[in-house]
Amino acid sequence: MPTSLAPAPDALLPDALLIEVAWEVCNQVGGIYTVIRSKVPATVPAWGERYCLLGPYFAHMAQGEFENYEDHHLDLMDDPYAVAVRQLRAAGYDICFGTWLVTGRPRVVLINPFQAYGRLGQIKADLWERHGIPMPDNDDLLHQVVAFGELSRIFIQTVAAIQAGKQRLLVHFHEWMTGVAIPELRRERTPAHLVFTTHATLLGRYLAMNDPDFYDHLMRVDWLAESRHFNIEPAVTMERAAAHGSHVFTTVSELTVRECIYLLDRMPDAVLPNGLNIERFVAGHEFQNLHQLYKAKINEFVMAHFFHSYSFELDKTLYFFTSGRYEYHNKGFDLTLEALARLNYRLQQGGVDVQVVMFFITKRPFTSINPQVLERRAVLEEVRQTCRAIEEQVGERLFYAAAASSDHRLPELGSMVDDYWKLRYRRTLQSWKSNALPPVITHNLVDDQNDDILNYLRRANLLNYQHDRVKIVYHPDFVSTTSPLFGMEYGQFVRGTHLGVFPSYYEPWGYTPLECVARGVPAVTSDLSGFGDYALQNVPDPEQKGIFVVHRQERTFDESAEELTEMLWQFVLLSRRDRIQQRNNVESHADLFDWKNLRVYYDRAYALALERQ
Ligand code: G6P
Ligand code: GLC
Repeated sequence: MPTSLAPAPDALLPDALLIEVAWEVCNQVGGIYTVIRSKVPATVPAWGERYCLLGPYFAHMAQGEFENYEDHHLDLMDDPYAVAVRQLRAAGYDICFGTWLVTGRPRVVLINPFQAYGRLGQIKADLWERHGIPMPDNDDLLHQVVAFGELSRIFIQTVAAIQAGKQRLLVHFHEWMTGVAIPELRRERTPAHLVFTTHATLLGRYLAMNDPDFYDHLMRVDWLAESRHFNIEPAVTMERAAAHGSHVFTTVSELTVRECIYLLDRMPDAVLPNGLNIERFVAGHEFQNLHQLYKAKINEFVMAHFFHSYSFELDKTLYFFTSGRYEYHNKGFDLTLEALARLNYRLQQGGVDVQVVMFFITKRPFTSINPQVLERRAVLEEVRQTCRAIEEQVGERLFYAAAASSDHRLPELGSMVDDYWKLRYRRTLQSWKSNALPPVITHNLVDDQNDDILNYLRRANLLNYQHDRVKIVYHPDFVSTTSPLFGMEYGQFVRGTHLGVFPSYYEPWGYTPLECVARGVPAVTSDLSGFGDYALQNVPDPEQKGIFVVHRQERTFDESAEELTEMLWQFVLLSRRDRIQQRNNVESHADLFDWKNLRVYYDRAYALALERQ
């Protein structure tokens, strides 16, 4: 699918209404939120008023992101969505219509799923009798999903009725959680053209997590037996029903196509790769300055975390990181750790005086931040304040001494500091310095004993000894401005690092490396991640653009670990000039993944859906 052969997006733009339905509209859970949200700025200008998003209403999520139209405003609107919302309100439905407060400001309909709870019994019975979808009694997420599915169906049919004889209607469902509405829309012969995109297969994810030879066994999976085994039969049958019921069935990467064929029994009609809204600065060096700025913030953390025990040269320190859901094997944390241990050994043997600090940013249940980590941060802050006070005092006195000087010689600066500050300086440093090793984890985990990352580090003795060239900081919580340790947004953290490491084993697409590239930070991915596979097939010379693809298909763990080690090693050997140049390369090619270029795949799928009845 070479992007260069794609026709200009607007040439394909079908003449129809488009409703895009996703569970994560105004409701961030995972990657689909990024897909929908980042695509808006490329979609709204093309589709304009014909476009509308549809999602579930959850007050606590929608609060900061969604703004309802005022009633008098809504009364004046005469487009089909507004008319449908008015009709449904008149019929007693609780349905919101307004703007999603994100770049591109799309129009959004949100429906509260709980209003259909009174009818759950009937909805569930219908799903079973008409579509063979079984439903358990006590799964609240599934209840929300089927209730929302039913309400979406009603909204879509209302719009379709209003539109009858006018413009055609396209409805694009993302993931099984919204796709559950598809079978009933088809059964009732709703005049709408339905597209379904699956962003993974449910069963594939479970199997990949549990079967080390997942890719070898894929062709022989008994989907029903396995989904019962993992206790996910209702959701899997919804996914299959949506895949089979849609006019056009799509997924996000060639890798997931295989899963769809074997686990869902339908070959996707198209692959819709994921993009981002790539925002570039007018001044090219601006993003390099930001790297410097946010690296300085990470430096502060690193000083607080390590220097009480021993110090190293920050100017020769590189920051690597990985992030994402805690799926030790699927996200390739296992491979990353193995490569880091090997890199550590190589750096020690090679006498290379570079330090690597590797951050694992993920989410695990914890009880608290390790109090010592917090305290060291606080004491270092005190050290800084003491230094400032001394600096001020010396500054004032030096200035006076200079003006009054007769011999023009620099006075002894130490003599200009009061004893009080000298003592305080000593005391604070004394209370800060310790012999304890800097901990490899910043928080106290609920289950420290059985944590795979910690167990690997213990086994490999990679425990932040002074002589280790690779140091570890495992932060089992997402980075955010309110986090006391980093206090910055995730995107800022990414900018401050040197390399993202994401050699996944199972990853239908995987936004994390792309989020690095968009900021000019090079990243490692794998040929078992949708993004890495896409890069190999569509980006000429990806390494040169800072996209390093580890080969994991048909390779042993050991071979892939060795390849990754070599990549990290080569990166460590780069000079600062090389790194700056590489960042420039990465940043200037990020446009390849801009939705402005990738939206065309969506429009093609829509054109195809309109051809099918
Ligand atoms: C950016 C800044 C430079 C700085 C460099 C450090 O490019 O504009 O002033 O020297 O970052 O790069 P490094 O890869 O060593 O963090
Ligand atoms: C799913 C996939 C992930 C992808 C995201 C968006 O969460 O697991 O790889 O990036 O959907 O398509």
